[in-house]
Amino acid sequence: MDRDRLLNELMEFLRIPSVSTLPAHNSDCRAAAQWVAGELRRLGCREVELLADDSHPVVWGVGPEVPGAPTLLIYGHYDVQPPDPLDEWVTAPFEPTVRGGTLFARGAADDKGQVFCLLKAIAAAPRVPLNFRFLIEGEEEFGSRVLFDLLQREPQRTRADAVLVADMAYVAPGWPAVYTTLRGLCYAELTVRTAKSDLHSGEFGGAAPNAHEELSRLLSKLKTPDGKVQVPGLYAAVKPPSKAELAMWKKLPFREAAFLKQRVQAKALTGLKRYSVLERLWALPTFEIHGIMGGFTGDGAKTVIPAEATAKVSLRLVPNQKLAVVERQLAAAVKRLAPKYVTATVRFLHGADPAQVRVTHPAFKLLDQAFREVVGRGTVPARAGGSIPIVPALGKGGAPVILTGIGLPDDRLHAPNEKLELKQLWDGIEVFSRFYELMGAWRK
Ligand code: BES
Ligand code: MN
Ligand code: MN
Repeated sequence: MDRDRLLNELMEFLRIPSVSTLPAHNSDCRAAAQWVAGELRRLGCREVELLADDSHPVVWGVGPEVPGAPTLLIYGHYDVQPPDPLDEWVTAPFEPTVRGGTLFARGAADDKGQVFCLLKAIAAAPRVPLNFRFLIEGEEEFGSRVLFDLLQREPQRTRADAVLVADMAYVAPGWPAVYTTLRGLCYAELTVRTAKSDLHSGEFGGAAPNAHEELSRLLSKLKTPDGKVQVPGLYAAVKPPSKAELAMWKKLPFREAAFLKQRVQAKALTGLKRYSVLERLWALPTFEIHGIMGGFTGDGAKTVIPAEATAKVSLRLVPNQKLAVVERQLAAAVKRLAPKYVTATVRFLHGADPAQVRVTHPAFKLLDQAFREVVGRGTVPARAGGSIPIVPALGKGGAPVILTGIGLPDDRLHAPNEKLELKQLWDGIEVFSRFYELMGAWRK
């Protein structure tokens, strides 16, 4: 393995600012798709296509045919989240830089570096006896609409003996993981309108309603100070983790104090204190406010009563909650909590059902063995707090969806100075190429 050459190739991929949520980057997303397509062609794929959409195409590939061998579908995403706030990056997000064995760039871990790892592991395993299929999408960070529609029309594209997804992390350095659940997501804009237009706060203040005040009050009613989400019915479908699962989590190398000090870096943790932090992160729904817009926020001072205010919010969902149900519950809660004299509207932007996978299929044993051989420890079953919207659809054809990853928990996904440890990348290439060999030798 020529590591210098590989690193240069990965940096080339990371230099493309493929931010799927910003329309200004549509052509960059297409360039990233082309980059992936080029890699698939170099791997000898007999079919490589950009499908379904011009601005965020799905890259589809079919590897060389190996008669009688199992089929492995590889899923990943080439799109990334916006890089702001830019001035907090030590080096620019789309100028990948190595400092002391760590590669810094937007997408280094989520998910370009990991897609790269899965692809280079194929080249690293001499003539792998596997029928590879590839679905590398460009809208994961925006709800995967394009891929959802594609798979709705053409579900046969997920036909495989197993699906491999590397878009997660180890649970701790030296502790690779396989994930049994992902949380779902319900992303919405809540808008409050109180009057026809903004009003002078001297002429009207004291007698006219204020949109920001009403929105703040509404938001604060949606969650109690101790962390319970006040959306009627929200917790009804929540399936508590089993005793065995809870016992297993206790054995993971996770310490709440270290999580607060090193990862969160705040003064205290919040949320429902009668549950452990891992239960709060993995097994309970959440409600978060991402940003609040409206009114006057420019330089200087303006004495105005805003007539409209909007908050971007989301709920994370856990098994067995359903996105469609939660959308109705949130809309009903907002309607009930807003006073009669304001117009409150909810606009849903995107979302995902939670995912749950059984890790009993023999392919999980093979991945466990590959990690054991290469990094000295097998995979621990864990849950993930994040979401990958398409995962339930990938498993619809009956193939087991293997959720794993080579990142580390402190990779700063979606945040400034996202990184990937190069050791994780080199180990990861070895792990997956060993996994491909083992999978290639496996017979039903
Ligand atoms: N790779 C993440 C999901 C993830 C992160 C899983 C950490 C497990 C641990 C993925 O790219 C992601 O960020 N998904 C979004 C989906 C959303 C925008 C629909 C998320 O979770 O916010
Ligand atoms: Mn990802
Ligand atoms: Mn992400």
